[in-house]
Amino acid sequence: MPDESQHQPATRAITSGRAHSGRSLAPALWSSSVWESESMADARKRATGIRSGEFYSRYSNPTVRSFEDAIAELEGAEASLAFASGMGAISSVVLALCSKGDHIVAQRNLYAATLAFLQGPCARFGIDVTFVDGTQPGAFAAAVQPGRTMMVLAETPSNPCLQLVDLDEIGALRGPFTVVDSTFATPLGQQPLAHGVHLSLHSATKGIAGHNDATLGVVSGEKDLIDAVWAYSVLHGATPSPHDALNALRGIRTMAVRTSHQAASAQFLAESLQQHPAVKAVHYPGLHTHPQHDLAKRQMRHFGTVFAVELAGGLTAVEQLLARVQLLHVATSLGGPETLVCHPATTTHASLTPEEAAAQGVTPGLLRISVGLEDPSDLWADLQAALAP
Ligand SMILES: Cc1ncc(COP(=O)(O)O)c(C=O)c1O
Repeated sequence: MPDESQHQPATRAITSGRAHSGRSLAPALWSSSVWESESMADARKRATGIRSGEFYSRYSNPTVRSFEDAIAELEGAEASLAFASGMGAISSVVLALCSKGDHIVAQRNLYAATLAFLQGPCARFGIDVTFVDGTQPGAFAAAVQPGRTMMVLAETPSNPCLQLVDLDEIGALRGPFTVVDSTFATPLGQQPLAHGVHLSLHSATKGIAGHNDATLGVVSGEKDLIDAVWAYSVLHGATPSPHDALNALRGIRTMAVRTSHQAASAQFLAESLQQHPAVKAVHYPGLHTHPQHDLAKRQMRHFGTVFAVELAGGLTAVEQLLARVQLLHVATSLGGPETLVCHPATTTHASLTPEEAAAQGVTPGLLRISVGLEDPSDLWADLQAALAP
């Protein structure tokens, strides 16, 4: 067998995650929730071992394992662990590693459900969170309380305004567990673990599965740490469905061509919209005008498939565009084949207070666009027609 780690990421997306499918080139679906044991001793070994497999699906499932192996390969990780959703991954990782009295440093610009989890359940369980501006150099380090801060949590690029966090800075922190939500980049767009970060996390519902047909999360890192999260996860129970893992594994096979087409289209649309008189600002790490464009070039292999656009006409202009688009779909997810447009202030980020929304840049005129696989000239024509006076 050739050494797979020598191959380029696009090749590894094809070669990885095949151990549990026999000679079948397509991934095998193991829908079983339970396996029989050979003996009492064998049952005991499987019940008490760490991810020993072929026991009970909440502990491990071969199709899910194939998906996890493929992600570990792409993240450059020793191990990965999948969950029933991105939020399943985030909540399980936090509750696996943090206890009452512990402290977390998190950036202010987060996916709103992550923010709500940190502000609600975490506060209720006595886990204290300090929020910082993740774009400011040194902000995370300054907020770490030695001996008390158990976790530093970052999201880059952030949802919905595409702000970046310097992965080298997070990776250099000593003491707390460092966790990066890398959903907007996909494992092909950046590698937080290569920067020294402990855990890289994704909503695989998005660009990894890539077809709007799976709800899944995944976290990757060193085996001992993933095993510790696994030991908690079997109690938490945010267990992924093997059907979703199968769809995501199929998505991984085409992720390189999908994301490079989508990122190129996103760049084209972001540049075109920037010139449009109805547009106040476009947020995309690939634009020279993005305040962290140099950082993006340093730490990202592609600039992502999502951008945000602020319309000069505010909410009225947003309502007009959402009513007029024909090809773009008004929907909240991202990373799939269809181009989606959403209004964060009333959907993904509707739970923010007015102050939080202002701090995050979630204005009434802001739209988030997830670029799909359509021809970019058709998308541009649709947007131009929707933006016409
Ligand atoms: C950056 C980010 N992290 C996590 C999540 C949560 O993922 P899921 O919807 O799969 O729970 C999302 C969802 O939009 C997201 O955008």
